[in-house]
Amino acid sequence: MSRGPLLFKDIDTPGLAGLETYRGLGGYEALAATLGGRSPGECIEIVKASGLRGRGGAGFPAGLKWSFVPKNSPRPKYIVCNADESEPGTFKDRELMVLNPHLLVEGMILAGYAIGSNQGYIYFRGEFAYVQKIMDRAIAEARSAGLLGESVLGTPFQFQLHTHLGAGAYICGEETALLSSLEGFRGQPRLKPPFPAVEGLYASPTVVNNVETLMNVPHILKHGAQWYRQWGTEKSAGTKVLSVSGPVKRPGNYEIPLGLPLRTLIESPEYCGGMRDGLEVKGVIPGGSSVPVLPASLLDTGLDYESMNAAGTFLGSGGVIVIDDQTCMVDALWNLLRFYAHESCGKCTPCREGTYWMVQILERIEQGGGTERDIDLLGDIADNILGKSFCALGDAAAMPVQGMLKHFRAEFEYHVKHKRCLVNRRRQSVLEVVA
Ligand SMILES: Cc1cc2nc3c(=O)[nH]c(=O)nc-3n(C[C@H](O)[C@H](O)[C@H](O)COP(=O)(O)O)c2cc1C
Ligand code: SF4
Repeated sequence: MSRGPLLFKDIDTPGLAGLETYRGLGGYEALAATLGGRSPGECIEIVKASGLRGRGGAGFPAGLKWSFVPKNSPRPKYIVCNADESEPGTFKDRELMVLNPHLLVEGMILAGYAIGSNQGYIYFRGEFAYVQKIMDRAIAEARSAGLLGESVLGTPFQFQLHTHLGAGAYICGEETALLSSLEGFRGQPRLKPPFPAVEGLYASPTVVNNVETLMNVPHILKHGAQWYRQWGTEKSAGTKVLSVSGPVKRPGNYEIPLGLPLRTLIESPEYCGGMRDGLEVKGVIPGGSSVPVLPASLLDTGLDYESMNAAGTFLGSGGVIVIDDQTCMVDALWNLLRFYAHESCGKCTPCREGTYWMVQILERIEQGGGTERDIDLLGDIADNILGKSFCALGDAAAMPVQGMLKHFRAEFEYHVKHKRCLVNRRRQSVLEVVA
């Protein structure tokens, strides 16, 4: 049974990671057709018309980003794939790369051709050494078959593809920190503008795209923009791979047509099949840990960029974290904030200091020493980080706080008043589970 209409359609085919099987299913046909008779400008127009938006988090239109690359720059141009995937709750890119690495290779060659680049890099988070090996194998196969190198498929277009393993830092998923890390410097964000499309890797025009974004490109160039628009909504075209975690019956990656209601994803037997152990949904963080939580009352919201924004949150990177009624929201937020405080790169004050303060306040509330004023202070700090930090990691730490206080403030107040959790839960320790 196919697990999705597009990127997941053939993903469970045995041997798909190998060139022969990939080609047997029509792989590299988009590349052959494109190099055989389409200009780079036409490729950009098709991707623009398809409505494909970046799948790394911000949802920026991919074709538009490509069109920002200056055509007459004397400097080399680069295409960089962001395979850092460090956002808690998001685990789609690794599965896509492990099971279908040639789709990414083909997507990168095509993106390189479209923007006039002869060099591509795939940047992996430090923990993805095993994924890097799989990608390296696919790249070597593609090179031996003349799909990469001095003359791609015998045409004058040349393209080299390299992989790079980071050291395992969340901030290196931010595109400018990623580029600094790729250059061998400390992975810290750079000032924008200039944006990477104008001044990126080695101060040269660079497009940074997410794994999933690039994997859509061969399909779009093979079948056309209108074909791609058969899925999704007018402004959120295509499909999206969502990583669902939490106490649902079948957690995992699901490729959905954009716009599918969140409730269908959680409850339908076609997807997660409902909650396990009689638990109820209390809230859902729909786009990776950095976006505001939605309460259960908003489960009918569509999983597309616009509907999520209208509901006060974001589709983000598609990490759907389902939270059950036995979970303490104060504890959950404290856990989340410890991650952001740990991963703050320390470059700017609001994020460096603010994340640390928020952790201390949450710890105080969780452990029964908090006051009503602490709840307001928490909100104040979040408000003062949002939009005032050097990069979006600060926002990523502030938004979950704002979302929790908006929808679940009563739980924080209960904690302060009664010095314990509102939920009547019993947490098993790891030792109890092992025994
Ligand atoms: C703290 C932080 C971490 C990020 N991590 C990732 C990541 O792991 N993968 C990713 O594709 N984008 C990540 N992004 C977004 C990238 O900066 C960038 O927008 C994205 O790679 C662009 O690709 P797209 O247009 O195809 O989405 C992160 C952004 C921030 C602020
Ligand atoms: S917002 Fe945080 S991660 Fe980003 S530059 Fe400032 S300190 Fe570093």
